[in-house]
Amino acid sequence: MSAAKAVLLVGSPRGHQSASRRLGLRLLQGLSSRGMTVETHSIYGDLDAPEKEEALIAAALSADLLIFSFPLYVDHLPAPVIRTLDRIASERRENLPTFRPRLTALVQCGFPETHQNRTALDIMRRFADLNGFTWAGGLALGMGGAAGRPMPEKPKGMLRNVLSALDQAAAALAGGGTIPEETSMLMGKPMMPKWLYFLGANWGWKQQARKNGKKAGRALDLRARPYA
Ligand SMILES: Cc1cc2nc3c(=O)[nH]c(=O)nc-3n(C[C@H](O)[C@H](O)[C@H](O)COP(=O)(O)O)c2cc1C
Repeated sequence: MSAAKAVLLVGSPRGHQSASRRLGLRLLQGLSSRGMTVETHSIYGDLDAPEKEEALIAAALSADLLIFSFPLYVDHLPAPVIRTLDRIASERRENLPTFRPRLTALVQCGFPETHQNRTALDIMRRFADLNGFTWAGGLALGMGGAAGRPMPEKPKGMLRNVLSALDQAAAALAGGGTIPEETSMLMGKPMMPKWLYFLGANWGWKQQARKNGKKAGRALDLRARPYA
C-alpha cells in the first residue's frame, strides 16, 4: 500500500518570509517524518499560470489530507484562497469521490488575539462539511508576525508552544486522527505579553516607514485610537 499523501496549500503572497509557509512546512515535516508523502503548493504563485493552477487543483483533489495555511486578511480568508476553495468545491461536486479525505487549516493573524481567527476556521470547517471532507480540526494563532522567522529544531523560546502543538498535530494526523482540542488550545496561547508584542510591532512599523522615506513614521503608534 502506498503512503498516505498530505498536500499543503499556502495562502500567503509573502514567499519564504511568510509565517503561514513556515508553520505549514513545519507541520509537513512532522508528517513526513512519520511516513506520509508530502507536497507543497503556493496558492498565490500558482494562480498566476493556468497550468500551475490545474496542477495545484489536481494535487488538492488527490490528497488524503489537505492542509490550508494562510493569514487572516480583513477578518476573512485571502481572496486567492477563496478562489481555490471554489475550484475544489465545484470539482468535488461534479465528480464526488467515494472516499472522504481529511481537511485541516492553519490560520494566523497580526492581531495579538487568537480568537480573531475563529470565523475563518469556522468557514474552513463548513467548507469541509459541505464538500465531502472530514474536518480534522484546525490550528489558529494571534501574534502571527512572531512566527515569520526561522524556527528552532526543538520547541524552545517564544515558539515553544507553537512548535509543540505542531508536533502533536502531526502525530495525530499521521496516525489517521484529528487534531485534539488541547493541541489547538496550546497552539493559540499568547507567545508573549501583549505590551511586548506591541513594542516589537511598533518598532517594526517605524523601521518600515523610515525605509520608505516617510517622516511621519516617528508618530506611528499601533495602539492609537484617534476616534475612540
Ligand atoms: C491586506 C492585509 C489584511 C490583514 N488583515 C488582518 C486582520 O483582519 N486581522 C489581523 O489580525 N491581521 C491582519 N493582517 C495581518 C496578517 O494576518 C499577519 O501579518 C500575518 O502574520 C501574515 O502572514 P504571512 O506572513 O503568512 O503572510 C492583514 C495583513 C494584510 C497584508
